[in-house]
Amino acid sequence: MNLSSVLADAGGATQLAVRTLALGGVTVVIGASAFRWVVMGSAARANTVTGDVERQVERQVASIGMVAAVVVTIAAAWRIVAQADAFLSPGDPLLPVVVAVLKTTWGRAATVQVAAALVALVGFWSTRNASSRGWTVALGAAVVMAATPAWMGHAAATESRTVIAIGADMLHVGAAGGWAGAVIVLALVLRHLQRETGDGAMAAELISRFRILALVCAGTLLGTGATSALFRLAAPSDLFTSPYGLILSAKLAIVASAAILGRRHSQTAALRARTGGASAVTASIGAEAVLFVLVLALSALLSASPPPTD
Ligand code: HEM
Repeated sequence: MNLSSVLADAGGATQLAVRTLALGGVTVVIGASAFRWVVMGSAARANTVTGDVERQVERQVASIGMVAAVVVTIAAAWRIVAQADAFLSPGDPLLPVVVAVLKTTWGRAATVQVAAALVALVGFWSTRNASSRGWTVALGAAVVMAATPAWMGHAAATESRTVIAIGADMLHVGAAGGWAGAVIVLALVLRHLQRETGDGAMAAELISRFRILALVCAGTLLGTGATSALFRLAAPSDLFTSPYGLILSAKLAIVASAAILGRRHSQTAALRARTGGASAVTASIGAEAVLFVLVLALSALLSASPPPTD
């Protein structure tokens, strides 16, 4: 296996970069919603995060969600045009081919992805005026968005037990948002806290309330990821002999490293933040977020590569 043939099979470096941005954006939109509802929600119920600090963190999370929603909108729109362009014969006008692409299952899912991203953008935007309804709108859009990649890749093309393949992929993307997406949001929020207030107590509170979300989502990712792998691999040896299997193995190695780092964070980071301030954990949680960005890039490569069962 060499890198250029793997990239060529995945449609080239630009396609892969845009696919990574789309999947990364979807993951972070879901992560921002999960962070607000689960992590901040649990801190607010316990009355440990309130007032101005709560508003400040909420605004930061909404801003991250807005950027991610814009990224998804642009990336998905770009992919629609690129898909149409690939079918274009010399001299043909682009618009009718775009319309034809939008009528396919892939095109409908891409349209829903753009629409959901725009709704999420409005939702996140309206939370900036202290509207809690905006968070509900963003959450609804995130749930819809989690369902779209399954209709744009291998899951929808699965010939038998398609419902299970699509269902597993939808849950996988949702859980990817709840773990990887939310860690990326947490890392950015911690950087913000370090810059603005250096508030270690707040950082510690957010980190310790993150544990349950990460555990539930990691378990779901393992189960749904294994299900998808069973659909795509013809034999266990494919993991080490096929390009698809090798990409999956590399992804699993990075997921395992992120999980080990995450476990360390769940045991020690809250205490470190409480005693040393937000800056004591920013770099380390940032490193975990970078590992998740790599996982997302490999996931984009995986979902664009021909599986051994093809
Ligand atoms: C932090 C952990 C993980 C993240 C963030 C993640 C993320 C993703 C994403 C975003 C996709 C693309 C879905 C799509 O395009 O439809 C995907 C696909 C996939 N993931 Fe994961 N994943 C993680 C862990 C795992 C694990 C633990 C496994 C295996 C046990 C796994 C196996 C797969 C497989 C087989 C696919 C299907 C690719 C295809 O369409 O052929 N993932 N993952």
